[in-house]
Amino acid sequence: MSMIFAQCNQKGGCGKSSMTLNLGAALARMGVKVLAVDSDPQANLTMALGYPQPDELPVTLPMVFQDIIDNQMRPGVPTLTLRREYILRAHGMDFVPSSIELAALETALINTISRETVMKRFLSHIRDDYDVILIDCMPSLNVITLNALTAADKVLVPLQPQFFSAKGLEMLLATIGGVRQQLNPKLTIGGALITMYDGRLKFHREVIDIVESAFGKYFKIFNTKIPVSVRVTETQARGRSIFEYDPSGKIAEAYGRFAEELMSGGVVNA
Ligand SMILES: Nc1ncnc2c1ncn2[C@@H]1O[C@H](COP(=O)(O)OP(=O)(O)OP(=O)(O)O)[C@@H](O)[C@H]1O
Ligand SMILES: [Mg+2]
Repeated sequence: MSMIFAQCNQKGGCGKSSMTLNLGAALARMGVKVLAVDSDPQANLTMALGYPQPDELPVTLPMVFQDIIDNQMRPGVPTLTLRREYILRAHGMDFVPSSIELAALETALINTISRETVMKRFLSHIRDDYDVILIDCMPSLNVITLNALTAADKVLVPLQPQFFSAKGLEMLLATIGGVRQQLNPKLTIGGALITMYDGRLKFHREVIDIVESAFGKYFKIFNTKIPVSVRVTETQARGRSIFEYDPSGKIAEAYGRFAEELMSGGVVNA
């Protein structure tokens, strides 16, 4: 049985897609069978995995969701889910691409029975093929994100060291609490990963101390911190893996260490 992680934080640009991409590639290098799911209509993950025109792909996540919604009153596995044409491969992992149509699906979900469980139903057909599934969430706590949290076992929270992030974290914790109560009682927080970290900056260290004292009882902050580096954006723009592009650089090293921290923490049983 795979472990499903949702990379979630409604704050835009804090490193959710970078984490999904680089953690996925790092785990794949360790021999873990990884599926990444792009659950954001911006499709940044899909583009970074080497598909710069997601809207031209024949099958993407919103189409699979639509197929499940259209067929939910019929028995058996929906045909599109069964055909698995939506599974692409890059950087040593399988992934399900997204496209802008996912934004429109939010409206379609309003009239859907059990609207928060479509992702869970989808993944139930394929999760046994993987050790780890990583869902890249969009920067919003909407019904698509609720689908990711309902399907997930653990939430991974990327955190950029900035002041005033406390209010956002409170909202995220409240949402996770609500999901746990109403939709997914086994959901836990795997931890927070500090991204874009510069250890030379006193205020970065201060923000981490503040987060630790205010939220330490709710979740842990991983020991590994991802340093700030222009290499992250460069590799994403080129659709290359950090392990190919800059294998001995600090980003490859940090995500390698983070993958090991997750595995050795007993979070993943691959
Ligand atoms: N460690 C890092 N050092 C420097 N830049 C980074 C780092 N991690 C991510 N970035 C850059 O910061 C930007 C935002 O990162 P990313 O897209 O991963 O965030 P996100 O949380 O997925 O954003 P969104 O909320 O829009 O989905 C990107 O341009 C990315 O290349
Ligand atoms: Mg993103």
